[in-house]
Amino acid sequence: MEIKKVGVVGCGLMGHGIVQVAAQAGMDVVAVEAEQGFLDKGLGRIEKSVKKLAAKAVEKGKATEEQANANAAATLGRIHGSLDKADLADCDLIVEAIVEDLDVKKALFAELGGLAKPGAIFASNTSSFPVIEMAEASGRPERFVGLHFFNPVQLMRLVEVVRTEKTDDEVFAAARAFGEAVGKKPVACKDTPGFVVNRLLVPYMVQSLQMLERGDATADDIDAAMQFGCGYPMGPITLTDYVGLDTTLSILEGWVERYPNEPAFAIPECLRQKVAEGKLGRKSGEGFYKWEGDKRA
Ligand code: CAA
Ligand code: NAD
Repeated sequence: MEIKKVGVVGCGLMGHGIVQVAAQAGMDVVAVEAEQGFLDKGLGRIEKSVKKLAAKAVEKGKATEEQANANAAATLGRIHGSLDKADLADCDLIVEAIVEDLDVKKALFAELGGLAKPGAIFASNTSSFPVIEMAEASGRPERFVGLHFFNPVQLMRLVEVVRTEKTDDEVFAAARAFGEAVGKKPVACKDTPGFVVNRLLVPYMVQSLQMLERGDATADDIDAAMQFGCGYPMGPITLTDYVGLDTTLSILEGWVERYPNEPAFAIPECLRQKVAEGKLGRKSGEGFYKWEGDKRA
């Protein structure tokens, strides 16, 4: 079951990175967005990132300038942007990376089930929802996995490959092989809330926000504590901004509704407030911190 052509639905924070790593691995990729503006933004980010990585390859002596530029052009040439889901019909794998809303994701997979070729594999990049519910909505649960990438996809080495009780063995193996082909370390997970990473990481982010609310320490000091005390590349509050406050809130709302008695799942009031104010973190330019592009101001 070779994957040569990949479709990615959603070209936001995560989707653009998934498009890029698949194209870098030599696959043809169709990137589908809901609106032209979002598509242009996603493709623009890919171009910037591909060029940055090409410059780094030259800097490190891994390629000549000519080779690096040719590779970058070839990567970009394999990407086809579209607003029409019908363009996904002949993809071997379709990865969904749209907003973290289960009803919206289920509606999308019901539509994809009606238009993708029979052998296609479906995957969701959901952070928190039960994969089986989207699998059932697609009408092809045996051909469905979770492929959970990490932000920024271009740099983070992990992909969680989530199998439900209905996933075919050969589909799981093909999804795992795809993860390896795009340069990631795949780990196998059952269809549990948050899989491995988010089950550990999101409660940690919640604890940091509750600490901030209680006034135990400032945001800067909480972040510095984890950065310099534990060697984390960024502290938990910067990380929450980096992930997106809307996405973090959606993850928690889904969990609190499904598992009301799990104390690790709670929604800090400051998170709700920031989202209500439209402060979504890095993607909107402000969250708990102010951002200039991809960097904290
Ligand atoms: N493409 C290409 N290059 C990129 C890039 C991208 N998308 N993003 C960053 N870079 C480059 C930067 O330009 C920079 O290059 P130079 O060295 O030439 O300046 C280099 O990578 C390092 O970046 P920064 O200087 O901005 O900062 P950094 O050293 O802190 O590294 C980081 C950035 C790799 C993101 C690091 O901070 C990190 O690992 N942070 C933690 C990220 C993390 O935990 N992610 C998981 C989030 S949870 C999740 O994803 C799951 C979920 O469902 C919510
Ligand atoms: P985002 O808001 O940056 O991007 C979502 C994109 O999907 C937007 O550009 C939007 O226009 C598009 N979209 C929405 N509905 C669509 C539809 N019906 N058809 C086509 N495009 C549509 O969000 P994100 O952070 O990239 O998150 C995407 C998914 O990845 C979510 O399920 C999220 O939980 C998951 N995820 C996020 C992170 C993270 O750190 N942000 C990490 C891992 C997984």
